[in-house]
Amino acid sequence: MLHDPNRVYVFDTTLRDGEQVPGCQLTTPEKIEIAKELEALGVDVIEAGFPISSPGDFQSVVELSKAVSEPIICALTRANKGDIDSAVAALQYAKRPRIHTGIGSSDMHIKHKFNSTREEILERAVEAVKYAKKSVEDIEFYAEDAGRADVRFLAQMVEAVIAAGATVVNIPDTNGYCLPDQYGSKIKFLKENVKNIDQAIISVHCHNDLGLATANSIAGLQNGARQIEGTINGIGERAGNTSIEEVVMILKTHEILGLHTNINTKNFYELSRMVSSQMRMPVQPNKAIVGSNAFAHSSGIHQDGFLKNRENYEIIRPEDVGFPDASIVLTARSGRHALKFHLERLGFSLSKEELSEVYHRFLTVADSKLDINDQDLLLMMGKQQLA
Ligand code: KIV
Ligand code: ZN
Repeated sequence: MLHDPNRVYVFDTTLRDGEQVPGCQLTTPEKIEIAKELEALGVDVIEAGFPISSPGDFQSVVELSKAVSEPIICALTRANKGDIDSAVAALQYAKRPRIHTGIGSSDMHIKHKFNSTREEILERAVEAVKYAKKSVEDIEFYAEDAGRADVRFLAQMVEAVIAAGATVVNIPDTNGYCLPDQYGSKIKFLKENVKNIDQAIISVHCHNDLGLATANSIAGLQNGARQIEGTINGIGERAGNTSIEEVVMILKTHEILGLHTNINTKNFYELSRMVSSQMRMPVQPNKAIVGSNAFAHSSGIHQDGFLKNRENYEIIRPEDVGFPDASIVLTARSGRHALKFHLERLGFSLSKEELSEVYHRFLTVADSKLDINDQDLLLMMGKQQLA
């Protein structure tokens, strides 16, 4: 079958990079529950853990491999034999196993993390890929801190690991350092200067330290990357990883990009809530796509425009991401149209004059309350509760 050049693969690392967050640790059964929902969402790869890091993580990769059949199950390693042996053992039941191995690529990491040289690091990278390839066919290589790496050295590293057998090359902006055009240019440079790049998929893995993870991931895709790595709700180390829901909905909303995924976007909201509750990590109300206010309209001008035609203020339909529905929130900033909308919903049909009179009462109540609910409206209309 011909490979679709516009298909973007989605690599979920909620259960690895996401789970590294203090306080977000999950039990194996909890991980399995999330993994099954990720499978239903349609992700292509689930990074199930870092098997050498603890017996619990090892066991989670074993159990997830048994429980999930459609997506590739991936295990993380550093570039050494011990880590790789542990990952190979943990993946023994996976129908489609992948090893994700790698090493630092920036001079910062080479000198101050590995106390090494570019030549030595290159050798270790190639050795790790060759070693992993003896046991597992699907090898992804990550060039850690690629965002700050010298692009020519990065290209040399990418070329060498592809020659050694890597079929996916991950270019992480580990520290969330890059600007979108810098990151995009880096991907473009690799696309244009790595001789064997057509034998691998370029993957983007961005962190959100400057709030640019999603923008950088999109810049990477626009410049030739075809796999995006991220997490549900954008959870992850420090300021987090790229939010999968954001990237997927950007591609869906901006058809002009000509890129598509296999994601069932209607599953986003429920999965977001599941991840949030299991990881004890609240979703900020203004979070794009899945925040509780993502489809709430509260100012009078917006509410009026929304009630005339929802597309005035809605670029994504809430049902497309499984969100219960858009809401018109009643506050002291709301106008007559919003009040009329809610009163009609509750069964009241008012003349213009009656509405004006109720609106004045409404403003008095709204000034003393944060928001107005159905019970407040009923009391305002002289009823204790709905008939
Ligand atoms: O951010 C990063 O560089 C990583 C790698 C281990 C892929 O998470
Ligand atoms: Zn990461």
